[in-house]
Amino acid sequence: MPATVLSFANFKGGVGKTSTTALVAWSLAKMGHKVCMIDFDPQANLTALMIKTYANLHDDKPATIKNSLMTAITEDIPLRDIMIPVSEHLDLVPNAVDFSIYGSFLTTKYATEEEQVTSFRPYIDALRDTYDYIFIDVPPTLQPTNDTAFYACDQLIVVLQTQERALTGAEQFVKYMQSVMIDRYNAPIDILGILPVLTERRAPVDDAVLQAAITEFGEKNIFDHHILIQSRIKRYDMTGITDNPKDMWDKKVHKAYAAVANEMIERLEAN
Ligand SMILES: Nc1ncnc2c1ncn2[C@@H]1O[C@H](COP(=O)(O)OP(=O)(O)OP(=O)(O)O)[C@@H](O)[C@H]1O
Ligand SMILES: [Mg+2]
Repeated sequence: MPATVLSFANFKGGVGKTSTTALVAWSLAKMGHKVCMIDFDPQANLTALMIKTYANLHDDKPATIKNSLMTAITEDIPLRDIMIPVSEHLDLVPNAVDFSIYGSFLTTKYATEEEQVTSFRPYIDALRDTYDYIFIDVPPTLQPTNDTAFYACDQLIVVLQTQERALTGAEQFVKYMQSVMIDRYNAPIDILGILPVLTERRAPVDDAVLQAAITEFGEKNIFDHHILIQSRIKRYDMTGITDNPKDMWDKKVHKAYAAVANEMIERLEAN
């Protein structure tokens, strides 16, 4: 079976897209699935997190970055040649700040919007036979550069941080995907569901936003498993992912993301 290509997405910044990508990918790899993560963000947060995680798994040895995603695209290097093998079943295509020229690269190289939007998909298609799941981690911008990543996806999971105004952002995102990606470009993508990331455990505003999301998107489109705020996740920004089975905080984090990963698989199978 060729890989399913997914992105945890929202136009809003700092809602947990990168952490969710990393930890769901980590869970799937631990279950034995072959997983690839593409860092599509010049902030390179996923790359930074995975370089630290690589060191945790390799006696503190740094990972070797051969080339950035931007170099691969400008010099037409296959993505598999620039990958970092983080763990046995988990690979990363790294990014760097040079990716900020991607927008001007696209407009210089391609004459039409359609050519621009469809240009990245072949890079991903070339990886489909190698993996079970490919995740693309995009930056929080409403820009045509992101559309090139979305066009390469099969499924999007909308990350909804349950705080005031978040619902408007999620609605806008879903509308944009429908009107631009699906209607205008005929992109072969679906929205797999909305994943609530709770800002506070059972706070009234979280409950209110969750209720409003159920009304807006329908209960069956909202993931049953939610992501709770756990300070261990913030610590991973500094330490890289740790997964010590004797550490209750690590265990709690990985249990939560494994539940999301399993629900993701069930939803894909039900599709
Ligand atoms: N469930 C969580 N509990 C606690 N902290 C979290 C959780 N998820 C993410 N964070 C923290 O919140 C911050 C933002 O998360 P993250 O970088 O994943 O968001 P993002 O949506 O990818 O941001 P950006 O839009 O800038 O790419 C990070 O410091 C991260 O460690
Ligand atoms: Mg991010």
